[in-house]
Amino acid sequence: MNPREPKDFPLGRWNLCVGGAGRVMDGYVNLDLFAMPGVNVAADAAELPFRSDIFQRVECDAVLEHVRDPAQVMSEIRRVLAPGGYAHLVTPFCHPFHEYPKDFRRFTLDGLKELAGGMEVVAEGWRTGPTATLLVIVIEYGKLLFPFRAWRAVMHVVLGWLLFPLRYLDLLLFRSASVGRIGNHCYIWLRKPGG
Ligand SMILES: C[S@@+](CC[C@H](N)C(=O)[O-])C[C@H]1O[C@@H](n2cnc3c(N)ncnc32)[C@H](O)[C@@H]1O
Repeated sequence: MNPREPKDFPLGRWNLCVGGAGRVMDGYVNLDLFAMPGVNVAADAAELPFRSDIFQRVECDAVLEHVRDPAQVMSEIRRVLAPGGYAHLVTPFCHPFHEYPKDFRRFTLDGLKELAGGMEVVAEGWRTGPTATLLVIVIEYGKLLFPFRAWRAVMHVVLGWLLFPLRYLDLLLFRSASVGRIGNHCYIWLRKPGG
C-alpha cells in the first residue's frame, strides 16, 4: 500500500461501495453482482438501482477490469454521486488474469483518467508498486508448476507468506517518477462538480 495515497475525503450520510464482494465496509452500502454475506444490494454496476445525486462517496476497488463497459459504469457512478462528492477508483495494471466473473482489461493511470467523464481528478497514483507486481507474477508462475488445485493453494499461501516482506521495497520505489512502468494497481480520486 502506498502511504501517500489520500484517505481523508469525507464520508457522507450515504456512501456506496461498488463491487465490494464480502468486504464489510462500515458506513457504505455494499453493492455487488452477486448476493453474498456482506452485500446489501445485488445488482449490475452498469445500472445502479439508486436515484441520482445521493452518495457522498463511491468506492470502486478492483472492479472496472471485470465489467463489460467501464464507461457505462462510470457514467452511473457519476450519476449517483452527490454534487461535490468523491469517487475512488482502483484498477490493476501489471497483474495476473483473474475472473470475477470475467476479466476484460488492464488500466494505465492515463487510461483510468480517461474515464473521469468531466469529474475533476483530485488525486492520482499507485496503490501497489513494482515489487507487488513481481511477487504476484512469481506466485502465479509457481502455481503453474503444480498440477493439482490443492497443491496450488498451498503454493499460494507458502510463497505469499515467504515473499510478503519484500513488498516493503515498494515504499522506496513509490518515490520514483517511473513507478508506473510496472506498477501493480493505480488509483484516482474524482470530485463531481458542484456542491
Ligand atoms: C476483484 S473483486 C474486488 C472485490 C473488492 N472490491 C475488493 O477490493 O476486495 C471484483 C468484484 O466485482 C464484482 N463485480 C464484477 N462485475 C460486476 C458488475 N457488473 N456489477 C457489480 N459488481 C461486479 C465481482 O462480483 C467481485 O465481487
